[in-house]
Amino acid sequence: MEGTQRYVKENQDRFLEELKELLKIPSISADPAYNQDVLDAAEKTAELLRQAGADAVEVLETKGYPVVYGEKIKDPSLPIVLVYGHYDVQPPDPLELWESGPFEPVIKKTEIHPDGAIFARGSADDKGQFFMHFKAFEAMMQADELPCNLKFMIEGEEEVGSASLADFLQENTDKLRNDIIVISDTSLVGKDIPSICVGLRGLSYVEVEVKGTDMDLHSGLFGGAVPNPINILCDMIGQLQDERNHITIPGFYDNVIELSENEKNAIYKIPFSEAEYKSAIGIKALHGEEGYSTFERNSTRPSLDVNGIWGGYTGEGAKTVIPSRAYAKISMRLVPGQDPDRITQLFIDHFPSLAPESVEVKCKALHGGLPYLLPEDDAGLEAAKEAMTKTFGSEAIPFRSGGSIPIVALFEKVLGSKSVLLGFGLDTDVIHSPNEHFGLNNFYKGIETIPYFLKFYTDKFIQK
Ligand code: BES
Ligand code: MN
Ligand code: MN
Repeated sequence: MEGTQRYVKENQDRFLEELKELLKIPSISADPAYNQDVLDAAEKTAELLRQAGADAVEVLETKGYPVVYGEKIKDPSLPIVLVYGHYDVQPPDPLELWESGPFEPVIKKTEIHPDGAIFARGSADDKGQFFMHFKAFEAMMQADELPCNLKFMIEGEEEVGSASLADFLQENTDKLRNDIIVISDTSLVGKDIPSICVGLRGLSYVEVEVKGTDMDLHSGLFGGAVPNPINILCDMIGQLQDERNHITIPGFYDNVIELSENEKNAIYKIPFSEAEYKSAIGIKALHGEEGYSTFERNSTRPSLDVNGIWGGYTGEGAKTVIPSRAYAKISMRLVPGQDPDRITQLFIDHFPSLAPESVEVKCKALHGGLPYLLPEDDAGLEAAKEAMTKTFGSEAIPFRSGGSIPIVALFEKVLGSKSVLLGFGLDTDVIHSPNEHFGLNNFYKGIETIPYFLKFYTDKFIQK
C-alpha cells in the first residue's frame, strides 16, 4: 500500500477542497424546501465518484431521494466490498448558534483538534466520512493497489429513516450483492484511540397528541377548572420513567439481552473520563438509569427521550391562554433483543392509560429500526482491527455505540451481509448540533486506514 499512501500524502489538500464543494450543498432531507439541493448533492456525489475512478456510476431513482451507485469490478474471484454512506444531512437549526454558516465550510482549530477541523453541517455525518472511501479508492486506483472489488451505495434519506430503502434493496439485490459492507458513519471511542463500533442501538419513534377543550380558552376565566393538555402531557411524560430513571412501560425490558461478564469487563477497559465528558457537553452532573455506568447508559442500555414538545403560545411576550392541544415527539433507543414494532405497540398501548378522562390522546408511530451487533469473530471486524492497529500503532478496542443506522439490520436481512462500522468521527464533533465539525486528522486517518482494511479483508477472504 506504499504507492497508495504516497498518493494520499501528495493530494491531501486537494481532497479537502473537493470535500468543501460537497459540504456547500444544503442537502437537508427533512425539509421539502431543500428538495432541489438534495438532488444536486446526489449529482455532485455521483460526479465525485466518477472522478475517483468508479465505473457504471448512476443516480438511481427510489420512491424518495435517489441512491448514488458506482463500482469497480476487477476480478470475480476477489471479494466484493460494498461501501454505504449518506449524502443527506440534518437541518442546521438553531442557525443563530453557528459561529460560521452551516453550508460555508471553514477550517478552524479547536482544543480537541489543534491541527484543525472542518466546520459544516454534514462534515462528520456523513459527507466527510463517506468521502474518505472515495479518496482511498482513488489513491488505490492511481497506485494500482486496489486489492478487491468495490461497490458504492450512497443514499439520501438516512436522516429521515431510510423509508424507501427497503424496497430499493429488494429490487436491487443482485446489483448490491457483496461479501461485506463497510460504513464510516460512527465515531471513535475517543481522540486518537483506535476503536471499532460493533453495535448500534435500534429506534422506536412516536408522536403523541393530547387534546383538551375544542378551542384555546382564556386562562383567567377557565384556569383551574378545565384540563390543560400541556400540563397533562408533561405529567404523562414524567410517568414514563421512575425515580431510578427506569422506563415504566410494561414489558419494555422483557427481551433485553443482558451483557455477559466478558462484555461488561470490556466496557470498563475503555478509556473514558467522566470529567472530560461533562466538560465537553457543558453540564455539572450526569443523569441516567441507576445501576449503570455512563458508557452503558448511552450504548448498551435502552433509553427514552422527548425530542420535541409544543403547544400553546410560544411567541413574544405573554398571552394568557389555555391551549386546546399539546404535542410531543418521543424516541426510544433499543438494544439487542428489543423489537421496534413491539416496543412501539407497547408504548401506544400504555401511554393513553396515563391520561385523565378529561383529555383525548392520540399516538402515531413515525419510524423505527432494529439494533445491530457484529459477532466478535467476524472476518471484517478482524480486518478492521488489524488495519487500525497498523495505522494507529496500538491495538483497536471494540465498543458499542448508542446511535442508530437502521439500514444495517436491513442489509443483513435482505442481502445477508454483515456491516463493519469503520467510523472516524468523535462524539464531540457535535453531529446534528450547531457547529458540527470533523477533525482533519480524523479525515486523513480514515483515508489512510481504509486501504489496509480492504487489503486485510481480501487476504482473509482468499485464505478461506
Ligand atoms: N451517523 C448517525 C448515527 C451514528 C452516529 C451512530 C454516531 C453512531 C455514532 C446517523 O446519521 C443518524 O443520525 N442516525 C439517526 C437515526 C435515523 C433513523 C434518523 C439517529 O441515530 O438518530
Ligand atoms: Mn450518519
Ligand atoms: Mn445523522
